[in-house]
Amino acid sequence: MKAREIHIVGNWKMNQTLHEISNFFIEMTKMKMELKCKAWIAPQALHIAILKEMAFTTGAIQVGAQNCSHTDSGAFTGETSPAALADMGVEFVLVGHSERRTIFNEGNEILNQKVLAALKNNLKVIYCVGETLSERESNTTFSVIEEQLKVGLQNVPADKAHLVMIAYEPVWAIGTGKVATAEQAEEVHAFIRGKLTQNSEHAIILYGGSVKPDNIDTLLRKENIDGALVGGASLKASDFRALCSSASVI
Ligand code: PGA
Repeated sequence: MKAREIHIVGNWKMNQTLHEISNFFIEMTKMKMELKCKAWIAPQALHIAILKEMAFTTGAIQVGAQNCSHTDSGAFTGETSPAALADMGVEFVLVGHSERRTIFNEGNEILNQKVLAALKNNLKVIYCVGETLSERESNTTFSVIEEQLKVGLQNVPADKAHLVMIAYEPVWAIGTGKVATAEQAEEVHAFIRGKLTQNSEHAIILYGGSVKPDNIDTLLRKENIDGALVGGASLKASDFRALCSSASVI
């Protein structure tokens, strides 16, 4: 029995057509599974409303966003307001995914503003951290993650700390097929828990990076791994269901 409720979070990134989304939910409905874990999906912002509708009929799946702006409104063409997400009934938002950090140059300071803006709107935040391959090889994994946590989570109000979750995603494991060993992941998860200054014992810490139905079990058996943030293997209903099934029997 795990100490914290397991969360399986699908990050669909910039994928899926309406047809594929509809098939995903048709398949999920056919499987009629009873979820004993939290099952969440973050589609492209454009698809949030339609996903919410389909997820509503399937039940159990909560819908989130992959990113949000650092501010509620204003002249920020192309951005997604956290206030608008909350208004849409969105449950959570990813902040600081490594693709946002590297491709869109989002550093810890702006990510901190996004975390605070999302929390102000009572969105749950999945704050992503993780080291690159060269950082791991130069033994700076822990200092990089410590800095990402320290700056990214500064000034989180005590009454919102329970809304913050962490995803540890080693950048070298994302979309590469190279999953961190359960021991490597657990070592960093325990470190992260130790560094959280608020809600540390109850905080959900997800692992992400090439999680698949055939490797999730060993990861979830580790004490500090409370679920997974899954890219590629969350796109097909059969894989997503298999991930949730594993999570339901741990
Ligand atoms: P992956 O992606 O499961 O395809 O490696 C994980 C992520 O980027 O969140």
